Amino acid sequence: MKFFNREEEIREIVSIIESEPNFIYFIYGPINSGKTALINEIINNRLDKDRYVVFYINLRGIFISKYEDFIEVLFEEYEESFIDKVKRLFLSLIKDSPEVIKSFLITKISGGVLDSIPIPKNTLREILKNNEVKNVFRYITNILMEIKKNGKQPVLIIDELQKIGDMKINGFMIYELFNYFIDLTKELHLCHVFCLSSDSLFIEKVYNEAMLNDRIDYILVDDFNKETALKFMDFLSDEILNKKLSNDEKELIYSYVGGKPILIIKVIDKLKYERLDVILEFMLKDTLSKLKKLLINVKNKKFEGIEYENVIDALKLFMDKYEIDEYLIDEDTKEFLVKRNILFLNPIEGTLKPQSFLIWSAIKRLLNEYQMG
Ligand SMILES: Nc1ncnc2c1ncn2[C@@H]1O[C@H](COP(=O)(O)OP(=O)(O)OP(=O)(O)O)[C@@H](O)[C@H]1O
Ligand SMILES: [Mg+2]
Repeated sequence: MKFFNREEEIREIVSIIESEPNFIYFIYGPINSGKTALINEIINNRLDKDRYVVFYINLRGIFISKYEDFIEVLFEEYEESFIDKVKRLFLSLIKDSPEVIKSFLITKISGGVLDSIPIPKNTLREILKNNEVKNVFRYITNILMEIKKNGKQPVLIIDELQKIGDMKINGFMIYELFNYFIDLTKELHLCHVFCLSSDSLFIEKVYNEAMLNDRIDYILVDDFNKETALKFMDFLSDEILNKKLSNDEKELIYSYVGGKPILIIKVIDKLKYERLDVILEFMLKDTLSKLKKLLINVKNKKFEGIEYENVIDALKLFMDKYEIDEYLIDEDTKEFLVKRNILFLNPIEGTLKPQSFLIWSAIKRLLNEYQMG
């Protein structure tokens, strides 16, 4: 499917990439708001492939429980040629020898988007020997410097960074990584670093980390606002249905699914064979029934420390508001609802809102049923 809009976010991110690297950027937002789609649109279609070398590392769907797993996604090994091998005999890559890397790499990296960092087979083994993260970083820095020397700007993007949030290697890996990213951006101005995540508890942790103060900047990729959502419906109905939707139909869709791109796509797709009111009612019932199941489990004390009454009281705050101050809900209940993807926490603004309009409608319906007994 063609990419739609996001011109403002695209302009912002492209202009960041066009200037000198100074900060680590966090792209965050509710689930399925289009963060991954946006960054992919930018790196594949909006950047000059002759000027940038982009490493886009996506941790989604990859099982990471230990350091080696992370290294495995980060790098891709390749066989060395005979000449590479001879050179390597004389120089150890880990001991700061960009010249060697040059011979390895320049043939491998010509510009554009890569999904891993190339590394000669034996070098990886050497780097991993003592579990020294430092060696890994040194290797990456050398590669980035080599790319820069060749007149190109490196850009490093890690999607779903929260997946390594709890990983330990001589302390938390994530802190070593952040320190390294600070080096790359604020200190060396060598490489752009973008991290993507929709895990708002992870973003909150990052946001409250003193070490990162003033070194990170945040870019919110939210669901579409109403105006854009309606235009997206026009765009999709043209593309998928070959017809126009009436204003009433569009308003109705918005009232159920709001500006969440994936839900709008789902509705329009189903319109090929299903009536609009049936589609929307079904989606709401589905969401409502999941919410009910969750609450039954809360009532049955399935989640330690989570009180049913507190959860209901928290949900009541959304009865006539989509967005509230995060401090109106106690810490445990807030964390629970955020973890369960009922609520999206925006730690930068200090606000909470349902993860989608659909969940919002489900919350309201549930509370109405609850009040009626
Ligand atoms: N601007 C857009 N134009 C067209 N399709 C879009 C757009 N934004 C998002 N989508 C579609 O919506 C779906 C969800 O988007 P995406 O996976 O990028 O969201 P995300 O914010 O990265 O989700 P997650 O929170 O799971 O990481 C994808 O199928 C994507 O193609
Ligand atoms: Mg994503």
